[in-house]
Amino acid sequence: VLNNAKELPLKGKKVLITAGGTKERIDPVRFITNDSSGKMGYSLAKAARDLGAEVTLVTATNLLPIPFGIEPISVQSSKEMETAVLDKFHNIDMVIMAAAVSDYRPKTQATVKIKKTNEDMNLVLEKTTDILAELGKRKTGQFLIGFAAETHEVERYAMDKLNRKNADMIVANDVSKEYAGFNKDTNEVIIYQVDKEPIQISVRSKDLIAEEILYAAIESMHDEMG
Ligand code: CTP
Ligand code: CA
Repeated sequence: VLNNAKELPLKGKKVLITAGGTKERIDPVRFITNDSSGKMGYSLAKAARDLGAEVTLVTATNLLPIPFGIEPISVQSSKEMETAVLDKFHNIDMVIMAAAVSDYRPKTQATVKIKKTNEDMNLVLEKTTDILAELGKRKTGQFLIGFAAETHEVERYAMDKLNRKNADMIVANDVSKEYAGFNKDTNEVIIYQVDKEPIQISVRSKDLIAEEILYAAIESMHDEMG
């Protein structure tokens, strides 16, 4: 039988996924960003779609083609991403924050190109909103998945993010490994959840990692519903 709950476990579910590295403007020709390519988020969007979900992809990159059958929302800054995510959140069943959201932004954005001088230049940065933590405060049953990009002490920092942000799952990747993390086609992750043993997913394509993350999330969502 096609289209039954077993084959399409996310049928009727609304999934919102963020992807890519946000860009924080300094002036009209310069910005601060990071090494995220968006590949992990796009793989998750395709996998969620193939499991039957209605997928919204809030994307901070324009370098990857929008997968078929997915609603894209294009953003640049962490502020734009925050606005887009909060606007949709009330109506969503699962959020996956795969984006590398900038932790700081220039405190002021120049409206015209900044000219060089002979002096050193100081750029003052202010904290951005932690979108995942904000969702953790507001959640009313949404299943919240975050990532943790770490280079060391992966378990300690990942568990800290799980608790501090009130997430249901943190997918940790060691971005210091040459086959994992930013801008790679493969990844290796450990999935952390409250009161559950960590799940290790050995190195494989980001498309296959995405499937494993969603299988684990679906199982936990079923547990929660009893
Ligand atoms: N995140 C977010 N908003 C931010 C920063 C991070 O929603 N302003 C989300 C990311 O999308 C990811 C998770 O929080 O799902 C963890 O991001 P990460 O950069 O690993 O952790 P931080 O809490 O920012 O801590 P640090 O960078 O110091 O490790
Ligand atoms: Ca960060």
